[in-house]
Amino acid sequence: MKMIFRTQLQDLPTVALFILCSTLLFLLVARTERELPEMISLPIKLQGSPDYARDLESVTGFEWETELDRTKEAKPFGLQSLEPPAATRHPLEIIYPNDYRFRLNEPNKCMERKPFLVLLVITEPQHVSRRKAIRQTWGHERSVPGVSILCLFLTGVHPRFGSPLQHLLEEESSIYRDIIQQDFLDTYNNLTLKTLMGMEWISKFCPNATYVMKVDSDIFLNVDYMVSKLLQPHLPPKKDYMTGYIYRNTKPLRNKAYKWYVPQEVYPNDTYPAYCGGPGYVLSADLAKKIYQVAKNIKVINMEDSFMGICLHELGISVTDSPWGLFNMYKISYEKCQFSKLVVVHHYGPDELLQIWPDFQDQNKTCDK
Ligand SMILES: *[C@@H]1O[C@H](CO)[C@@H](O)[C@H](O)[C@H]1NC(C)=O
Ligand SMILES: *[C@@H]1O[C@H](CO)[C@@H](O)[C@H](O)[C@H]1NC(C)=O
Ligand SMILES: *[C@@H]1O[C@H](CO)[C@@H](O)[C@H](O)[C@H]1NC(C)=O
Ligand SMILES: *[C@@H]1O[C@H](CO)[C@@H](O)[C@H](O)[C@H]1NC(C)=O
Repeated sequence: MKMIFRTQLQDLPTVALFILCSTLLFLLVARTERELPEMISLPIKLQGSPDYARDLESVTGFEWETELDRTKEAKPFGLQSLEPPAATRHPLEIIYPNDYRFRLNEPNKCMERKPFLVLLVITEPQHVSRRKAIRQTWGHERSVPGVSILCLFLTGVHPRFGSPLQHLLEEESSIYRDIIQQDFLDTYNNLTLKTLMGMEWISKFCPNATYVMKVDSDIFLNVDYMVSKLLQPHLPPKKDYMTGYIYRNTKPLRNKAYKWYVPQEVYPNDTYPAYCGGPGYVLSADLAKKIYQVAKNIKVINMEDSFMGICLHELGISVTDSPWGLFNMYKISYEKCQFSKLVVVHHYGPDELLQIWPDFQDQNKTCDK
């Protein structure tokens, strides 16, 4: 005791400095933490205010352990407690009771029409500016003659600001009628639940769709080229079809340092079955229904794209190769003629998308066929 006290006295300047720094840091953190919910509860003008939307988006950071802590510390409003006892399950295990409730839904979308293609776009509740940019660019629902396209945004409940963000989301939903939300916490680890919600939605509310595409919100997407090159509306619909950028013989990452960490307890095998890369893949709607059914009987894992491969494996269905270069899982700099002959390019945020879109749409400059 005495020793420690003497050491502290000797180190007094250091200790004082430490206390000062800690206090400043604490104040800074406390301020940031306090400001966000207030900021969120401000009324939002969804048509404008991109800066505000961007501020909201910067809320998210990805560290699965942090996410778990957040999940624990925040008791979100009115969520069903469906967890099996924590002692018997790994914290990264996915809880999939098959009956998360819809908070926002568009049950009548497919009564009005029979979409040829449904785009299911993965977003988080606070991704206001991304959704806005997508509606103005590749998510814009034009009807190519005989080809109707439906674009919907999938989301869960924000782990910390579920309640204040819900009002904004409801407002946005009432304007655009294109948001589907279920009752699970929207964390990186829970991404698979969002894809499964999409498969469930197709099964229950849009069984007459022909094709479905799951896409991330940070991509460039060339819908026209995909429809003409891969889906070919003039041909009979494909069955048991899934294509994209295909990964074969990949292994689960067993290192906790990665965002894509998959513990042995969650997925024991050394390799994944072949699967299509998450940023964008397309499937026939009949397969969406089969995946939704089979997912009820197998253990859900936290990598949504690998999990789709596991479902196909279970169903005894193979992925279909697509021509080389259509689905790009890395970034390529924009070049109009190159982009007119591909389907997906990863890593295009809202600003860049809006910036390149007018040029991409401009049909004057001809590209070699
Ligand atoms: C799907 O198509 C069938 C037959 O064409 C029709 O009876 C049914 O109403 C359609 N369902 C939806 C949700 O459009
Ligand atoms: C995933 O969602 C469930 C249901 O909301 C929740 O209990 C669980 O904590 C979430 N998982 C993570 C890692 O956030
Ligand atoms: C995992 O490995 C087992 C045993 O080799 C095999 O039967 C099963 O099909 C594999 N599962 C997947 C999803 O590859
Ligand atoms: C496209 O071509 C038309 C006719 O050739 C021309 O009038 C128009 O200005 C062009 N638009 C752009 C954006 O270059």
